[in-house]
Amino acid sequence: MADQTRPRIFSGVQPTGNMHLGGYLGAFRNWARLQDEYDTIYCIVDLHAMTVEYDPAELAAARIETAKVLIALGVDPDRSLLYNQSQVPEHAELAWILGAMTPMGVLNRMTQFKDKTARGASPNLGLYSYPVLMAADILLYRANLVPVGDDQRQHIEVTRDLAERFNNRFGEIFPIPEGYIPETSARVMSLTNPTDKMSKSDPQEKSRIDLTDEPDVIRKRIRSAVTDSDPEVRFDREDKPGISNLLEIMSACTGRSIDNLVDEYAHTGYGIFKDAVADVVIEELAPIKEAHDALDDGDVRAVLHASGIKGAEMAAATMDLVRAATGVKRF
Ligand code: TYM
Repeated sequence: MADQTRPRIFSGVQPTGNMHLGGYLGAFRNWARLQDEYDTIYCIVDLHAMTVEYDPAELAAARIETAKVLIALGVDPDRSLLYNQSQVPEHAELAWILGAMTPMGVLNRMTQFKDKTARGASPNLGLYSYPVLMAADILLYRANLVPVGDDQRQHIEVTRDLAERFNNRFGEIFPIPEGYIPETSARVMSLTNPTDKMSKSDPQEKSRIDLTDEPDVIRKRIRSAVTDSDPEVRFDREDKPGISNLLEIMSACTGRSIDNLVDEYAHTGYGIFKDAVADVVIEELAPIKEAHDALDDGDVRAVLHASGIKGAEMAAATMDLVRAATGVKRF
């Protein structure tokens, strides 16, 4: 793992709430798929989760649960590193160094800060500088590729910008990372409001499908997904956002093209189409739930601990270079 011969991947997930189908189809499925080709590091970003109001006991427990779901969906601790961001304090150190060279104008453009504060989050410094910590996460491991969903595009741009600024000023230390964003299902939408993305912070549970939901819950949620009154199944994000979302979900789960699905379901009626979507989602998630329920919390903790030690070694090597280049080399 540490002797890097393959390009490196880094990605992260906030341990807040449950892991849902959006994150899975947008990102986590790729985390599992890319393990053979890349050197892969996956982080449960608990420091990021502190930027909105939270309960310490819930955060502590959510870190284990998040790791459990990731392992269950195929993140393999023998092939990937998987640990909590807070296990490696250099994330925060590098964030400070990058923050010292981040123009406020860059952060003022961030749509997630505006969205989150508009929805009631308190506009604190951590939330404002969230993208700088995310850039530090990625650059600390000198990652080349970042598998994420569409909502992280702007953050990846900031990371590239900061890497370039750093390299220009202090020397070529960081590769300029690229996002790895799927073509279908990069933005899975809410089942109750299909013009908003599916999100773990949505208070309406019916708006999402969690990866460990029971089959009958999955079917019920898909059956009651908000659609429209025109009975034709066709892809039209503007006029038929609910049906388009279900088509994307089905396409992502089956590998069939949207056109191919439309050929089959255009005139079957929504009931039959929704049941078919439910069938494929249930089939996709069943092995995840089964693997999740068989995992032991103690084993998961041991994985996080052991991975964190390896991650810390890699981070220390980058920080030696960064400290030397920026004039704060340790005596
Ligand atoms: P987070 O925890 O919100 O989401 C984790 C991953 O899931 C993707 N995702 C979605 N994809 C498609 N449709 C959706 N409805 C959907 N909802 C979530 C996200 O795009 C993400 O890839 N800022 C990040 C965490 C982070 C990070 C990093 C990621 C911190 N540092 C460094 C990559 C690299 C976040 O809040 O993800």
